[in-house]
Amino acid sequence: MSTYFERTGPLQELGSYPQWAQDMVEACEDARRSVVTHELWDRMREDRIEAVSTRNFMIGIWPVIERFPGYMAQSLLKTQYGRSPGDDMARRWLVRNIRVEQNHAEYWLHWAVGAGIPREDVLSGEMPRGADVLARWCEEVSAHDTLAAGMAATNYAVEGATGEWSQILYDSAAYHERFAPAQRTRSLRWLHLHADYDDTHPWEALEIICTLLGTRPSLDVVEHITECVRRSYISMRMLADICVAPSIAAEMNGVAVA
Ligand SMILES: [Fe+2]
Repeated sequence: MSTYFERTGPLQELGSYPQWAQDMVEACEDARRSVVTHELWDRMREDRIEAVSTRNFMIGIWPVIERFPGYMAQSLLKTQYGRSPGDDMARRWLVRNIRVEQNHAEYWLHWAVGAGIPREDVLSGEMPRGADVLARWCEEVSAHDTLAAGMAATNYAVEGATGEWSQILYDSAAYHERFAPAQRTRSLRWLHLHADYDDTHPWEALEIICTLLGTRPSLDVVEHITECVRRSYISMRMLADICVAPSIAAEMNGVAVA
C-alpha cells in the first residue's frame, strides 16, 4: 500500500492531512492555546503592561526574529533536489520564503522603537533571564534534527502561533492608538505582515512535513514531531510568562521545558 501523501483537499483544512497529522495537531492543542490565549496579548492591547515587560518582549523575542531566516537556511541545507517529492517541495518553499523574511528583522526594530525601546537596546541590550528558551530550542532543532522536525517546530508551530497572536494585536484599534500617528504604519508593519501573510505559511509547512513523512510514519516519528511542536509552543508560553511577570519568571528560571 502506498504511503505517499499528496494533498487533494483545501490547504487550510486539517481534514486534508493524514490522520497522524490530525492527531499531532490535536495532541498539541492545549499547548497552542496556552500561547494564543496568553494574558500578555490582552495586557498589551489594553495598555496594562509595565515598561519592563515591553522591553522584555522586544528584546526577548528579537533573537528568534533575527535568526528565523537562519533556521530556514539550516532546513534548506538538509534538502536534496530529486531525492523525494517532499525534499523538492521543501527546497522550493524555503528558497522562496527566506527571501520573504528579508526585511522582517528591520521591521521588528521599527516596532520596538515605536513602542519606546531603542534600537541599540534590542540589538545589544541584556537579555531577560530565561528569555532565550525559544531561540535555543529553534536553533537546536534546526541545526541537529530532521528536516521535518525542524520545519514542524519553526515554520509550523512558531509561525502558526505567531500569526494568531499578531492578529490579536493588529486587530485591536486600542493597540494602534498607542503609537504616534506619524509612526503608526511603520511601527506596525511587522505585525501587519505576520497577521496577514503568515496565515497560509503554517499550513504550507504542514503540507511539506506530511509530504516528507507520508501517510503512515512510524509511531516514533509521529511522537517526535508531536514533541517538537509542543516544545515550541511551551517555549513561547514561557517567553510570554517572562514578559508578563519578569520577577516571577526569573525565580522559575531553570525549570525544564516539556
Ligand atoms: Fe517574518
